[in-house]
Amino acid sequence: MEIITVKDKQFKPFISEAELRDAIGQVAQKINNDYQGKSPLFLGVLNGSFMFFSDLLKGIDLVCEVSFVKLASYEGTSSTGKVEELIGLNEDLTGRDIILVEDIVDTGNTLEKLYQMLLDKNPASIKIATLLFKPEAYHKTYPIDYVGKEIPNAFVLGFGLDYDGLARNLSSIYVLNE
Ligand code: IMP
Repeated sequence: MEIITVKDKQFKPFISEAELRDAIGQVAQKINNDYQGKSPLFLGVLNGSFMFFSDLLKGIDLVCEVSFVKLASYEGTSSTGKVEELIGLNEDLTGRDIILVEDIVDTGNTLEKLYQMLLDKNPASIKIATLLFKPEAYHKTYPIDYVGKEIPNAFVLGFGLDYDGLARNLSSIYVLNE
């Protein structure tokens, strides 16, 4: 078994390229069925979703739009504390069917912020597609509409997911070797 080292930690193979391909293909089929006759806007959440986004969209046979967003956080004034802002969005979302594409939903905190920010822009609908989902860690109530794979509450990397900015380029998913 091929163990890899990233900085101070070791990771072992967890989800193969073939398994990822199958899981992503199934998500694409479900979306194709659910959105027949519609023209959704796929919004990829950077940085983590780039590989999933690309593979997912290759399986989508709808006439659709794609764009990317990023949640930027910076220190505000002492009264505002940490400020979070959605960057990269140029499209008018009014009346649009949005499919938010995430790499992983863990606690759901990021998802909640994104969801609320998008809701303010009056879309017709928002659905969530995520490659990975950690049900044991999730503590929000937003339905996760499309899930590639449910995984246990462990730290994973590769296929877009990073450890301290590293290893997003791996073509399969690894898990922390403890
Ligand atoms: P949440 O806000 O707790 O749901 O976490 C969302 C973000 O945390 C994801 O978009 C990832 O960037 C990061 N994250 C959560 N779990 C993992 C993991 O196991 N490996 C790498 N990044 C993770």
